[in-house]
This record gives sequence, C-alpha cells and structure tokens, in this order.
Amino acid sequence: MKTPHALQALIDDGVIDEVVRPLKSGKEAAVYVVRGGGEVRCAKVYKDMAQRSFQQRVQYQEGRKVRGSREARAIGKASRYGRKQQEDAWKHTEVDALYRLREAGVRVPEPHGFHHGVLVMEMVTDADGLAAPRLGEYAPTPEQARAFHAVLVRQVTRMLCCGLIHGDLSPYNVLVDADGPVLIDFPQVVSAAGNNAARTMLLRDVNNLTAYLGRWAPELLDTWYGEELWALFEAGALQPDTALTGSFAHDEHAADVGSVREAIEEARQEALIRQQGREAAAAEGR
Ligand SMILES: Nc1ncnc2c1ncn2[C@@H]1O[C@H](COP(=O)(O)OP(=O)(O)OP(=O)(O)O)[C@@H](O)[C@H]1O
Ligand SMILES: [Mg+2]
Repeated sequence: MKTPHALQALIDDGVIDEVVRPLKSGKEAAVYVVRGGGEVRCAKVYKDMAQRSFQQRVQYQEGRKVRGSREARAIGKASRYGRKQQEDAWKHTEVDALYRLREAGVRVPEPHGFHHGVLVMEMVTDADGLAAPRLGEYAPTPEQARAFHAVLVRQVTRMLCCGLIHGDLSPYNVLVDADGPVLIDFPQVVSAAGNNAARTMLLRDVNNLTAYLGRWAPELLDTWYGEELWALFEAGALQPDTALTGSFAHDEHAADVGSVREAIEEARQEALIRQQGREAAAAEGR
C-alpha cells in the first residue's frame, strides 16, 4: 500500500521495511500492520491533540511524573510550549508503560521502540496468525470467562504493584491470543499513588471486565476484586502473586459505602446495557 505520511520517516530510518495494511483506526490512534525486524508488527500512529479532547487528559495527567523541572514548569503554564510537551509526554506514556509492564511480567505486546511519534510493537495474533480479536468481540465459554477473569485480575494486580492503573480497561482494550488475554492501549495509564481518582479508576477497570465476563459466568458478578486490590495496595500488602479471594468486607461505618456500592452496581448495569446495545447494533449490521 501507499506509505502513510506518518510512517515514511520510519521506513527512511530502516525501523520498518514496509506498511502492509491499516489494521484499525480508533478515536485516538490509527494502527497499521507493518513488516520490520523480520516480523509482522503493529505501528500505532497517535492522532494530534486537536482531534482528541484535551480536557479529558487533565485528570489522567495528575500524579504522572514529568521528566525535568523545566518540563514540569512548562506543563504547569499550559503555554503553547507546555502543551507541546504535554502532548509528547502523553505519547511517550504508552511506550514507557509497555516496557515497564513487560518487565514486570504483565501480558502486554512487546514494544519495539517509539520512533518519530509512532509506537512500534509486537502484533498480537490468534492461533491462525491473524490480528487477535478483542475480548469484546469474543464469546467465551463459562470456563474461559472464569479463566480469563482470573488472568486479567492477575495482570491488574501486577500493574498495581508497579504503581500503575490502566485507566481505560474494557473488553475493547483486551486482545485474546492463543494463550489468553493481553492488555493494550496505555496512553492514559495513571499513577496509583499520586492521583486522587486512582481508586475510582481501578474499580471501574476491574468492574468493566467483571461485567462483561459475568455475562458468561454470572457468579463473577458477586466478586469484589477491585475493592480487595485497593485495600491491599493501600495497606502496602499487595504483591504480584498475592492470593485474592474476590470477597471484600465493606466497612459499614464509612459514610459513603452505600453510594460507592451503588455507583459500582450502576457501572455494572451500564456496561451490560452498553454491551447489549453493541450486540443489537452488530446483529442489525449482519
Ligand atoms: N499490538 C497489537 N496487536 C494486534 N492488534 C492491535 C495491537 N494494538 C492495537 N491493535 C488493534 O487496534 C485497535 C486500536 O488500538 P488501541 O486500542 O491501542 O488504539 P485506540 O485508538 O485507543 O483505539 P480505540 O479508540 O478504539 O480504543 C485495537 O482495538 C486492536 O484491535
Ligand atoms: Mg483502544
């Protein structure tokens, strides 16, 4: 195919040999299948800030470490230079997270560097070597649903032990390869320690997966892994291999327990409804 403009510099530098085809274009990035390093890989080209909601980023940026004090000041000022730095920091976040998480044994695509604003990474494939389906397009058996859930909770645990929360985890940011679920899409990854919204995001991440997989294994809907993980993390007692129960003793004295529980239930319901909507839409398209 004709080389997209954003990938030409990578070809010129010999990072990739050729662009095979577009794979998917989402709201924040366009992903291409490319050949490079003797393999078929993915190249993720980020859309410019103007095409995304800038304000949405602000919540995510809270608590994220910025490289130098000059950069930090610049971001603080939100000057044009500051915005440019913020944009670069946002794009760097994903590749940095992939290296870190890979090192920590989290199931993520292997990164092959960040070149000219483009992330090159392993292509996650199914058993036939084709681009792996997203969990949201995959109807698991009840056994698979339970197994996937356990694997996913373990990946979230390992991430949290690195001090990171995905922040946009859903069945659409999980791919299913021959060995099970792989997490993708990390530009909004958040720091678990320095962000006031961290707990909420962790609960939402876990809840999104639980709500989806609970459709095939309804007993999952009675689990509270997010809450359990956060309590252990806050107590400094979470290890990558900590055994989890899925149950959680809610502190009935805390003023907002009821509302937290309600919010979680609401999110679960919402996720279910959205999923049913997607399925209905897909069925109509058939
Ligand atoms: N390493 C990979 N291997 C295989 N497929 C991938 C890989 N990375 C991304 N994809 C495919 O490209 C899609 C978009 O990637 P990603 O989720 O990272 O970008 P995005 O722009 O945030 O997408 P969206 O807005 O749809 O969430 C994924 O849903 C997946 O189908
Ligand atoms: Mg995505």
